[in-house]
Formats: sequence, structure tokens, C-alpha cells
Amino acid sequence: MNGLPQDPDTTAYPHPSAITPAIWWVGRCGWGALPPLTAEPDCNIYLLRGRDYDVLIDCGMSADLAALEGHIRAVGSAPARVREIWLTHSHYDHFMRAAHWTARYPHTVCRIAETAIEFLEQDNYRLVGHTVARKLMPVAIPPRLAPLRDGADLHCPPWTLRVEALPGHVPDQLGFRGSVDGRDTLFSGDAAIGDQNAIPGMIGWLDGLWLSDVRVYRATLRRLTARPPALLLPGHGRPHAGEAAARSLEHCRERLERFAAFPDLAAMMPIVPPEERTVS
Ligand SMILES: [Fe+2]
Ligand SMILES: [Fe+2]
Repeated sequence: MNGLPQDPDTTAYPHPSAITPAIWWVGRCGWGALPPLTAEPDCNIYLLRGRDYDVLIDCGMSADLAALEGHIRAVGSAPARVREIWLTHSHYDHFMRAAHWTARYPHTVCRIAETAIEFLEQDNYRLVGHTVARKLMPVAIPPRLAPLRDGADLHCPPWTLRVEALPGHVPDQLGFRGSVDGRDTLFSGDAAIGDQNAIPGMIGWLDGLWLSDVRVYRATLRRLTARPPALLLPGHGRPHAGEAAARSLEHCRERLERFAAFPDLAAMMPIVPPEERTVS
């Protein structure tokens, strides 16, 4: 051994798997032609294993808990050990299972951006992706949500991660960043999905409904490319380690710069000013 941590295993297996000893891939749909672990249209669901308790990073959408519970048990944890869920944003595919999870496990603390809570408290579900979500299932919100702000520390001893606001795809997008298993690790949600199959630098879906902002997004990606993590864990698709993480972020930045270079972008779909968008 040379003292360096073992390379992360970013392979998508047809079963839950350890990316690093403390980070497990326990849920996803078949997006990106990956073998699905849980239901459509679930995002990636990661289990961060701590000494005293474990944390889920995002929790998908489906009301069905059985597959996720089974995967958590299969990797040596237990649903009752999941003390917290850290939500990268309130988009339906990352967030809506939280209501079903907390109905069964009411001790679980769900943490999400304070911006998301402000919208939800006004019964405004545009950040959830209301019109899309409604076609899939009724919008379901946990009874209690704990607000997160940029710069706050999150704890899953022995790990401490810092909340990093990554707006642009949506205004409530957060990343969670810190040293896990000796490696600078970033859970990026949909802010940076990165190189997937033959497509370089995939980014979150831009839409005026959920208040995407290209100018803000450019600043976010410039910040990320200036300080790439050693392990990038996106909300969809395969994770990226080492040089691949830096390369993926650079490709995300280039994609958005190309998009932003379109003349009259603000007059084009999908960037519709919020006041011109009807949300029923
Ligand atoms: Fe999203
Ligand atoms: Fe997503």
C-alpha cells in the first residue's frame, strides 16, 4: 500500500455497490442506460455510512420504499439507521419519496435549501416541477423540513460536509462537499451531471418553470471548475473520480458557455421569463 485511498469504484452494477467504503450507491432508475436499482424516475440515491448513523443523499420519487429499504439492508445498514436525508434540491425525482419515507420513519430529519422551503410554504410547487410531477403522482411533502444555507456544516460522524449553493439549474440547488474516506467529495445533484456515455458535460434540465437561470449557472460552473473535487457524485448517471471529475466539470462549463452564446437566448425556449409562464 502507498497510503493513498483506494480508487473509487464508479461502475454501475445491477445491485447496490460501494463507491468508496463509506459511500454506497443504493438507488437509481435506468437513466443513462444504467441497470436500475429502484423505480422510475428516481435520481441517484447515495447512502453515506457513518459511525453512529447513516444519511441518504437524495431519496428519489417513487412512493415505493421496499427496494430502497432492501438495498440499505443489503449493504449492511438498516432503514432505522438513516437518521437524516440531505436533499440536493426539491425537484420531484430527488425529493418526493421523502414524504413517504418519513411517514414510515418519522425520526428521519430531512434537510433541504431554505429557498425550497420558502416556495413550499406558499404551496408553490414550481421548483418541485409541478406540472411534470403531477402527471406522475400527487405532490407529497414531508411535514417537517430543516432549512439549509450555503456554508452550513452537515454531520454524519466521522464525516463533516459543507453545504455549497450551486444555483442555476434551479435556485434551490445545493451541493454537499467534504473529505470522505480521505478524498475531497462533492454530491452535486443536477448542477453537474458530467460526461455520460458519449455525451460530454451533461447539466441539469433548464426550464423557466423551475426558474433556471443561465447567467447564475455559468457562475456556479466557473466556481466548480476552479476547484474540482476528487470525487464527483452527480444526481444522475455515473460518478466521476480524479481527472474524470475535473474533465466532466470543464465539459459542463463549456456546454453552458456554448448555450449562453446563443443570441436572443432569453426569448427562446426553454428560458421563459417566470412572469410569462403560467403555472396551474
Ligand atoms: Fe433537477
Ligand atoms: Fe434530477
